[in-house]
Amino acid sequence: MFCDTHCHLFKEYYEDIDTIIKNASLNQVNRMINAGCDAKSNIEVLDSLKHKEVYGALGIHPEDVLNYQEEDLKFIEEHLNHEKIIAIGEIGLDYHYGKENREEQLKLFERQLALAEKYQMPVVIHSREATEDTIELLKKYNVKGVIHSFSGSLEIATIYIKMGFLLGINGVITFKNCRLKEVIEKIDVHNIVLETDSPYLTPVPFRGEKNDPSKIKTIAEFVANLKKISKEELVKKTNENIAQIFDI
Ligand code: NI
Repeated sequence: MFCDTHCHLFKEYYEDIDTIIKNASLNQVNRMINAGCDAKSNIEVLDSLKHKEVYGALGIHPEDVLNYQEEDLKFIEEHLNHEKIIAIGEIGLDYHYGKENREEQLKLFERQLALAEKYQMPVVIHSREATEDTIELLKKYNVKGVIHSFSGSLEIATIYIKMGFLLGINGVITFKNCRLKEVIEKIDVHNIVLETDSPYLTPVPFRGEKNDPSKIKTIAEFVANLKKISKEELVKKTNENIAQIFDI
């Protein structure tokens, strides 16, 4: 049985989320972690928990840094006690479009890390072109979790692993000329989890289609080949990794 450790099952992306979940379930994906990004999607995450296959993470994404309200953080804190809310995320830093909001991003990230520490919740980290600041902030808090959509070097991977983080691997690894392949070849399976990041990052050979959690199978096959182990063994090991971090 597969687990998609990171997806965004929201109405703005899918007309019929029930069917997406049913189809994933028919494809042996019996657990999905739906990750919120802002006030609106966090409400949708809570609603999606009615599906037995769906677990949730609540968070304010760095791209929402100029829009979020104080009450949105309060909302997250108030719902952390839901038994199927299993992490704070997706949170982090993103300097892809520039560093103008760096201070605001650091503040938002730090406040959510503090929440995670206070409630002993794992975190789901988004870090794009912000590795140095991400590592520095994570070191300040007693938290564990997943570096979602990891795509860094072996050196950076080693730092995160030493800090107790798992690396989230998705369809990016199936892309042509992706350097992540060489990094993952050298990393113990013990340190990775699989994710789709649906609706984004559709794996080869489905490029051009909208991604969905059933495609975790394609990613698992690819990573198993890369690691020269069976798909069953990869799934068993990554499920053990998930159990070490998340209460699902
Ligand atoms: Ni995401």
